[in-house]
Amino acid sequence: MQEDRIKSLIDTEIIGKKLSVYSDVDSTNDVLHSLAYENNEQDGTVIISDSQTKGRGRLSRNWFSPKGVNVYISILFRPKILVQNSPVFTFLASLALSETFDNYKVQSQIKWPNDILINNKKVAGVLTEMKSSNNLVEFIVVGIGVNLNLSKKEIKERLREVSNSTTSLFEELGKFIDREIFISELLKNLDDIYLIFKRQGIDYIVARWACRWGHLNERVKLDVDGKIIEGIARKVDNCGYLYVEKSNGNLEKIIAGDIIIES
Ligand code: BTN
Repeated sequence: MQEDRIKSLIDTEIIGKKLSVYSDVDSTNDVLHSLAYENNEQDGTVIISDSQTKGRGRLSRNWFSPKGVNVYISILFRPKILVQNSPVFTFLASLALSETFDNYKVQSQIKWPNDILINNKKVAGVLTEMKSSNNLVEFIVVGIGVNLNLSKKEIKERLREVSNSTTSLFEELGKFIDREIFISELLKNLDDIYLIFKRQGIDYIVARWACRWGHLNERVKLDVDGKIIEGIARKVDNCGYLYVEKSNGNLEKIIAGDIIIES
């Protein structure tokens, strides 16, 4: 992964004005969190790594992070928002990802709260973490992992239990994807959406996110802490909560859970 090439390709106003590429880290989110905390890094600082030894996903899951094939990237934001609105940053990243996949003429969908799917299989995920004080966000670290050039063989061997629901852009298109170009496109889209967020606010972003939300007004089955909840996915609010319409017509608010995709 070439830092100079990425820097020469990106054309942004805020995101990636400071950008560093590492060859191996525990987790790009952890590196950026420490830098934000200790060095007071600025809004839009980006950390990229060629591989991660302790890549993390949502709900403390591992994120498979082999060298040389994928994208592992974290972006620092310093927005002036309340803690409860911080999930909008997962939406910003999901939107930027989904719009980047458009460049490759492939249709992607967002799966609440943080997955990007192509043909119903996960190709990318977002992990949003934050530091706050007095109910205000101090900073947010948005981590993005994209399965870009992962082969089917590696998906089968290394992601056994989830291999049937995982894909890569390479597998979907049958051609190798240039990581540096993909990253520069992703950062550009994120920069555009962040600027729009600053002008138009949270409600606009949530509405735009919903246009790419694969399950809007569809019947869904959710695993919420081991409890299965079924209903129709009706809306997401500006705290990132999902509202599911139950058979009795009541809306149930879901704070965290996994939508189960049945294959
Ligand atoms: C998920 O789908 O559960 C979220 C996956 C997020 C993975 C990325 S890779 C870059 C950043 N560093 C991490 O340790 N995790 C995120």
